[in-house]
Amino acid sequence: MAGLANEEINRIQQAANIVEIIGSYVNLEKQGKNYFCICPFHDDHNPSMSVSEEKGLYTCFVCHKTGNVFSFVRDFENVSFIEAVKIVASKVGIEFETGYKETNKYDKHYEAIELALKFYQNNLKSEDGKKAREYLKRRGITDEIIEEFNIGFAPNSYDTITKLLINKGFDEELLISTGLAARNNTVYDLFRNRITFPIHNPQGKPVGFSSRIYEDVNEAKYINTKETAIFKKGKILFNYHRAQNEARRLKYLLVVEGQMDAIRVYSSGIKNVVATMGTALTEDHIKLLKKLNVKIVLCMDNDEAGEKATIQNGEALSQAGVDLAVLRISDAKDPDEYILKHSKDEFVDAINNAVTYFDFKLNYFKKDKNLNKVEDVSKYINQIVKELNKSNDEVLIDLTVNELSSQYGIDKNVLLNQIIKVEAPKITKIEQKKEKKLSKNQRLASILLYYMMNDTKYIKLYEQELGYIPDDNYGEIANDILAFFLKYNYINIADFITYEISKEYYENVLDIIDTNIKVELNDAEYVGIINKIKIWIDENKINELKEKVKSISDINEQLKIADEIAKIKKRMCQNEES
Ligand code: UTP
Ligand code: MN
Repeated sequence: MAGLANEEINRIQQAANIVEIIGSYVNLEKQGKNYFCICPFHDDHNPSMSVSEEKGLYTCFVCHKTGNVFSFVRDFENVSFIEAVKIVASKVGIEFETGYKETNKYDKHYEAIELALKFYQNNLKSEDGKKAREYLKRRGITDEIIEEFNIGFAPNSYDTITKLLINKGFDEELLISTGLAARNNTVYDLFRNRITFPIHNPQGKPVGFSSRIYEDVNEAKYINTKETAIFKKGKILFNYHRAQNEARRLKYLLVVEGQMDAIRVYSSGIKNVVATMGTALTEDHIKLLKKLNVKIVLCMDNDEAGEKATIQNGEALSQAGVDLAVLRISDAKDPDEYILKHSKDEFVDAINNAVTYFDFKLNYFKKDKNLNKVEDVSKYINQIVKELNKSNDEVLIDLTVNELSSQYGIDKNVLLNQIIKVEAPKITKIEQKKEKKLSKNQRLASILLYYMMNDTKYIKLYEQELGYIPDDNYGEIANDILAFFLKYNYINIADFITYEISKEYYENVLDIIDTNIKVELNDAEYVGIINKIKIWIDENKINELKEKVKSISDINEQLKIADEIAKIKKRMCQNEES
């Protein structure tokens, strides 16, 4: 954090209402003094994160993520601390310019991709890109869409982009590791004679390309950037960076298969759309989707592969506790074709008529079955019972059982008997921090520090009564709290976190807050803790003196030390009584 003015950051922190900022990402509900939400940092099903407006802090009682507005934005948006400060500043309308340039070890990678993007973009507009332009036009991709999505054209040449970038000072290895080039004796361009679609990471930086043929040639339809340090297929959804705010606003996100579908849907005016780019949703994709905290409408292609993808992605999403709906289009092979053939409005109607994932499955199980045959009915019902066993939605179970019973003439109780009540979904894979084993004294020090972070009167008392804590970590934190107070003449827990964010013991500060956040501050208790820490200090002194005695041979010196120990013990007794 070198070079950053703390005063400036604290000013932003104080201007930001943590409830408003966090509330712009997740749904907060007020309960008593605090607000609660589903924790976005672990696979949470019940609200376990609490947000304190008064303290400017949030903390999750399950995964123990704790911090202030900046750390929330940093972790939620997956950006650096400085980026998070900038985001918060812009949300509260404060201008924040540090002139501080962050460096990233992949800066050169990003730069190469950015330059290639610009080159391809210009190349599409040149004579070279004429046929590709005509192809796009035939598909109803207008100049505006080309501009918005930075669509380009990679020339039909062996090494144009390679040479260009090498001339600009990039080395061959770097070009290969960005996925722009490959080596076969000499280094050559990977994208040749193809329309290029830049792919961005969730923060909106271009990290790779998908490229398409535009003529009837016997080649793979699409060639995409291979896995690189900055292009992680399993963590990227096409158009996510453009779609996320609109998804939060409209409270749903459409997920389609192809980037051409996403481009069509987006440019028709439905901006809350992302594409999986033909792969199954990974755990990381699902994390990205869950973070939006909105309904997901799955709209895979209208073919068998699309149906399979619906089941596969649907299972993964519903297991992750995502609110899910399914849209199966008909009369067109994919959303792109559907909108061209029908209209945006009809597509919106279709979205509004998306069915629940459960209803989709009820239908899906009917496929390839003849429900006039007893055998198929039995298979069908067993499949549904299996699904109902995954649910703990009593209303859904009841409605479905009634429906099946009346439709197929089966005794309701026979069905109900097969439904085993399941417990609430178990919380999977929480990234639990390792519980640190604290000694009784460290525990006390932790509470003491928490008091100090909250109110200057406790810092003053600490300064008068103790002056130090006999523990390296906690001692240093105490010193820094005191230093913060002496410098700024106030204390505020959320500001102090930011002050310490670059310190090695930062995690310890968060632990202190996390374990004590429920502590109600009380003067008498604080004095009690101070006294106990005095005893701790004395115990330490006695131990030191005892060690010293061992190394001394002069009897008079030994007696002096014994006397000193006796004095300390007497003082300790008095302290224990008080
Ligand atoms: P589709 O074959 O459904 O493509 O593949 P599409 O989106 O309808 O594309 P157009 O309309 O023919 O241009 C869906 C997605 O799967 C990936 C691409 O990301 C594509 O958008 N894919 C497909 C590939 O990566 N390689 C391929 O050869 C085909
Ligand atoms: Mn298509």
